[in-house]
Amino acid sequence: MCGIVGYIGTEQAAPIILDGLARLEYRGYDSAGIAVYNGQDIQITKSVGRLKVLEELTHGGATMPGCIGIGHTRWATHGAPSQVNAHPHFNKEITVAVVHNGIIENYIQLRNRLSKRGYEFVSETDTEVVAHMLDYYYTGDPLETIAKVLHRIEGSYALGVIFASHPDELFAARKDSPLIVGQKENGCFIASDVPAILRYTRKVYYMENQEIVRLKKDSLNFYNFDEEEISKESVTIEWDANAAEKGGYEHFMLKEMYEQPKTVTDTLLPRFKDNKIEIEELGMTDEEMKEIKKIHIVACGSAYHAGMTGKYVLEGLARIPVEIDLASEFRYRNPILEEGAMVMVISQSGETADTLAALRESQERGFKVLGIVNVVGSSIAREADNVMYTWAGPEIAVATTKAYSAQLIALYLLAMKFAEVRGTVSAEVLEEMKEDLKKLPDQIEMLLNNKERIQRFANRYIGAKDVFFIGRGIDYAISLEGSLKLKEISYIHSEAYAAGELKHGTISLIEEGTLVTAVATQQDLFAKTVSNIVEVKARGAFVLAVTNEGNTEIEKAADYVIYLPQTNSYFTNSLAIIPLQLFGYYVAVGKGCDVDKPRNLAKSVTVE
Ligand code: M6R
Repeated sequence: MCGIVGYIGTEQAAPIILDGLARLEYRGYDSAGIAVYNGQDIQITKSVGRLKVLEELTHGGATMPGCIGIGHTRWATHGAPSQVNAHPHFNKEITVAVVHNGIIENYIQLRNRLSKRGYEFVSETDTEVVAHMLDYYYTGDPLETIAKVLHRIEGSYALGVIFASHPDELFAARKDSPLIVGQKENGCFIASDVPAILRYTRKVYYMENQEIVRLKKDSLNFYNFDEEEISKESVTIEWDANAAEKGGYEHFMLKEMYEQPKTVTDTLLPRFKDNKIEIEELGMTDEEMKEIKKIHIVACGSAYHAGMTGKYVLEGLARIPVEIDLASEFRYRNPILEEGAMVMVISQSGETADTLAALRESQERGFKVLGIVNVVGSSIAREADNVMYTWAGPEIAVATTKAYSAQLIALYLLAMKFAEVRGTVSAEVLEEMKEDLKKLPDQIEMLLNNKERIQRFANRYIGAKDVFFIGRGIDYAISLEGSLKLKEISYIHSEAYAAGELKHGTISLIEEGTLVTAVATQQDLFAKTVSNIVEVKARGAFVLAVTNEGNTEIEKAADYVIYLPQTNSYFTNSLAIIPLQLFGYYVAVGKGCDVDKPRNLAKSVTVE
């Protein structure tokens, strides 16, 4: 979960690489480094901390002249964040430099072998073995050398490599970690993700697994690991460069929250044809949809929480049993997948290692996998049998908001489609639901525009030690996400509980002034949740309630109430999440936290 960038061309490489790395900081930000060939030697500069330290150290790249280079922003896996562990790594004579995203799994054996041959290691990283292996196997032909090394390393990698002996060539290779290649006149790029190079070019090639690329300033050649040249098609990136920038908002997270009405519209509309729900990318006939016996939803973090809502909606509407698993559990629990089961994996990045492994596990057992994915061309998008994109656009803040909202919409659409085909919901009700779906973007916008009340409330809780979120049914699913939003960016301990579960232990944690956020949008469960509110109030809790317009009787029990516009009871999470996101955001801002890049976290968790 690191970011890599490389450039070769007629311009100075270092400023371009630093600029690209800045746009990849969401992938890792505990240290950074850059290597540039200056006409004589490979010059390397590394620093601990945010990229701005490296920028200052190199005067924005001015101290590192040269037109070919590679850079890296790191999220530590092997070895603590430190200058020696930062990339690029290099051989003793610094004739080769490497940046790497991924994990070399057999690095200990390789390291032992190289040590016996006299190689000395300065870092604790897995990546350093690659630099020394490139030295050991060097034949004078970089492509041949790289292929030899790749045949001997196991694990996942996107690699960028430069050789002092070949200063007009930059090399990159990919296996199981994202890598793209960009091209413009008089310059070529490598990067972990598109925003890094969007300022310079929209012409992009997606590297597939087990591919190598040779970049020169005016040409690209792609090879497989057997060094056979292969041809690749470029794609033109359509999205706006500004979409990857903050656009005037204080944080990416705030900007992305405000993009939710658009995200919801963009995810909904392509699936409405003449007011009918058509999900062509499902690749399933009506007969096949009728035959589904069970759905397994597998995901991590917020995507798992979206899946939890999906479980309630799919079971409720389509009457299909749904099992939901955390991907890190699913992959190792020898899951029972029976004939007629459908597997859905959900992922914003499409690169989450555990989710990808769950996908592969399911495919190995002969099951087709539907990926609900945001990043086009990502590993999950490419490996899933069918892909339903969420069309949220690039999400930069580590805490997901708009991608989560888009995932909810994708799941509603699937549930409604299955319900229609299987005849489990009447045509009349489905028509009403469609109308409610179309109202969601405006309703979300309205909630966002009323942010002041939440902002004021959040300011009171910046000193909170523990916060609890409770709800029943779908409201429990949203409580999980509300709690994660708060804790991951504000560092306030927070937990979500099914409201009925509180008295089985957790209620003993409630004391005078403890904040409990109670979500009560499900009319059939309303009275039950109100009882739970009364119980925590009796123990001294301060209760923030989130409920539907009209439920004013809740004011007798709760201290502070946020009302949501009316919608179908299956869609309330799309509305309830807005005040919860705003609450987490404003508490974190009030505490002075680094909202977009919370400590210890990375946007894309490409290692297990
Ligand atoms: O890219 P993915 O959707 O697969 O990521 C899954 C989780 O890592 C992610 O949702 C994480 O929990 C976010 N930090 C939540 O805001």
